[in-house]
Amino acid sequence: MALGAAFLPQRRGIPDPRREAMWLLARAWGVEEIALRLHPERVVPAEVEARYRGWLERRAAGEPAHHLTGECEFWGRSFAVSPAVLVPRPETELAVQVALELPLSPTARVLDVGTGSGCIAVTLAAERPRWRVSAVDVSSHALEVARANAARHAVEIEFHEADLTSSMDPPWDLIVANLPYIPTADLAALPREVGFDPVAALDGGADGLDLIRRLIADLPRLLRPCGGAVLELGEDQADAVAKIAGTAGLGVARRIKDPGGCERVVVLQPR
Ligand SMILES: C[S@@+](CC[C@H](N)C(=O)[O-])C[C@H]1O[C@@H](n2cnc3c(N)ncnc32)[C@H](O)[C@@H]1O
Repeated sequence: MALGAAFLPQRRGIPDPRREAMWLLARAWGVEEIALRLHPERVVPAEVEARYRGWLERRAAGEPAHHLTGECEFWGRSFAVSPAVLVPRPETELAVQVALELPLSPTARVLDVGTGSGCIAVTLAAERPRWRVSAVDVSSHALEVARANAARHAVEIEFHEADLTSSMDPPWDLIVANLPYIPTADLAALPREVGFDPVAALDGGADGLDLIRRLIADLPRLLRPCGGAVLELGEDQADAVAKIAGTAGLGVARRIKDPGGCERVVVLQPR
């Protein structure tokens, strides 16, 4: 543990170097963190130490911890991640929570647009085993990761490589999307760690809403009359999205704030 803290500098992005070093050592060793705390006298095997030191150096150079381990926790499950996918973010769990709260049929037909690692689709399929879940992404490399995560959690998901929803046949009870929503001009100012996520998972065009606007335009065709869409948004986008939805003939059923006060998730429904 002292080994890790010695290598990880205290700086933005690594607020608690000691804690993170312990987390990395546990993963490099394939043991639970609690085992390290309970038995600090255990000698670190040479091959574990070599892996751990390699990770610490990369972490100290700015690489996100989840890229080093290739794993990320989401909704209590472990997901494989790679440079081809966005590392699942805690705020996306809010979109999942809102989706799970909707009063849908037990056999609802559900579509995750821009599935990335598959964290949303896999979680919904695991939490609602009778839902019929499909997922789409434009990136074949992201879909490989999503398929591996579906297999890891033993859920059946129909995956499609496509540009948004143009090739998807209606009707859907629920559409969930965490599409890229960062305005292009803001990308350069993002923290260094975010630079390790694929640009195609972040760049939402001039106002951040290019893809969301295109998806909303297709929702009236896709959704059942009593269906709903759950969209994750960036800061200060909810008003613009409500306007876009209104123009498309959709109503805003809910606007949900994240713990930081940002209107992070909206629920849209046909009027
Ligand atoms: C912000 S990431 C979200 C990934 C995952 N759903 C999550 O919440 O962690 C957006 C995803 O949308 C995908 N994407 C970008 N443009 C797309 C398009 N035109 N059609 C389908 N997927 C797209 C990206 O490849 C990326 O995987």
